[in-house]
Amino acid sequence: MQDYYRPVYHFTARQGWMNDPNGLIQFRGTYHAFYQHYPYAPKWGPMHWGHAVSRDLVHWEHLPIALYPDQDYEKGCFTGSAVDNNGELTLVYTAHHDERSPRETQCLAFSRDGIYFTKYEKNPVIKGPPPGYGEEFRDPKVFRRGEDWYIVVGCTRENRGGVLLYTSPDLRRWDLVGLFCESDGAQGIMWECPNFFQLDGAWVLLISPIDMEKARCIFITGEADFEKPAFMQKKWSRADYGLDFYAPQVFTDERGRCILLGWMDMWGDFPTRKDGWAGAFTFPRQLFLEGATVCQRPVEELALLRRKELFNGNLKLRRGQKNNLANIQGDCLEIEFTIPRGKLESGVLTMLLRASADRKERVLLQWDLSSQVFTLDKEQSGSGQGDTPKPAARKQPWAGLSTEKTSIPLEEDGEKQVHILVDRSSIEIFLCGGKFVFTNWIFPRPASVFYDLFMEGAELSIPDLKIFELGSGLETPASG
Ligand code: FRU
Repeated sequence: MQDYYRPVYHFTARQGWMNDPNGLIQFRGTYHAFYQHYPYAPKWGPMHWGHAVSRDLVHWEHLPIALYPDQDYEKGCFTGSAVDNNGELTLVYTAHHDERSPRETQCLAFSRDGIYFTKYEKNPVIKGPPPGYGEEFRDPKVFRRGEDWYIVVGCTRENRGGVLLYTSPDLRRWDLVGLFCESDGAQGIMWECPNFFQLDGAWVLLISPIDMEKARCIFITGEADFEKPAFMQKKWSRADYGLDFYAPQVFTDERGRCILLGWMDMWGDFPTRKDGWAGAFTFPRQLFLEGATVCQRPVEELALLRRKELFNGNLKLRRGQKNNLANIQGDCLEIEFTIPRGKLESGVLTMLLRASADRKERVLLQWDLSSQVFTLDKEQSGSGQGDTPKPAARKQPWAGLSTEKTSIPLEEDGEKQVHILVDRSSIEIFLCGGKFVFTNWIFPRPASVFYDLFMEGAELSIPDLKIFELGSGLETPASG
């Protein structure tokens, strides 16, 4: 089936390659999403900024490419962010040039109509990292505090990742305030895509560290001192426990919601390439704090995509009895339920997603309700319509993390909410009120549309299972 893996309700570029979300903003009521983009082939190449707009975060319209790498100081327009400066949509981005030193500088582009951008004639506005820092110096994230503008920029020093803080009165002249935060020694050698924002009154730094053994993206909560400067780390947690998530960006919308979009990452040689594209955004997620933990839930606009209710009620899972979801089929579903409070003496809740009729192909979720260990296994989740070999295990610098199977102790005794989004080639799982999120690409056969939910070693009553079929919110690649 042609282009089967194209998500139905997740954003993808029309053609070619995409990676990080960039410049996320709600500008004059409209949501704008830019993204790292190579339009000419489904592989990473000289970076452009692709561009799309939406009124509701789920229906996107493609716009012309916003930034081309067309200046002598850049071979690629790398990741950056956006602000509304009195009606002027301003992009702050990294110009990357391999043959120059410094290789990475920070630049501006402006637009009045939110569609066509002009690069600042005095670019670059930050001409390189300060002395003593490594060449990798990128991904400015801009924010306002009082009368002043600030950016955090990812950097590296003596093999430790960090973020530098700069300030400006007008977005054009920038002064270094200093090193704002740095790896504690086990948080990677360079920090990509920093985001610094306030969430329910607390400051949060979100980074994508290179070579951190225990995580690919982390939220850090802490105390901020903008004069010193210093961001004192209090607590860090993984932003996503899944296998295909990177470079998230956060913005605050006009309703005051902190919204995150990530890159559903695919460095491997995946089957979508034969259909001319690679990469997608995650489903937009609203962030909120639960104690000191940053939690995520799909934005409520998800409800706009619900087409058909497939199940709504309770479900009794008898010990060892399978085929409890025999009537459910589909490749674009929302599944939601609660596991009642209380720790079981024994019992493993098992879920099969996107299973073939013989159940050999499937994504397997197993939640041991006595030890609280949750396992996601996509080793048998397909290789691309059965006609292409399984993509080679991806080589990643994140040595500690498997790309096929992951097990996490969730240590959660309360009521456990489960919320799952399935879309053709992806699965996003939100557990325990969004404390733990798992984002994954999968390449099952189109006929693998079966599901199951069963208990081994005990019984369980699910009081509130809801399953919806989700419908398209996106343009088809041919239109627009
Ligand atoms: C993260 C990243 C950024 C960089 C961009 C280049 O995925 O490496 O640090 O700006 O991608 O495409």
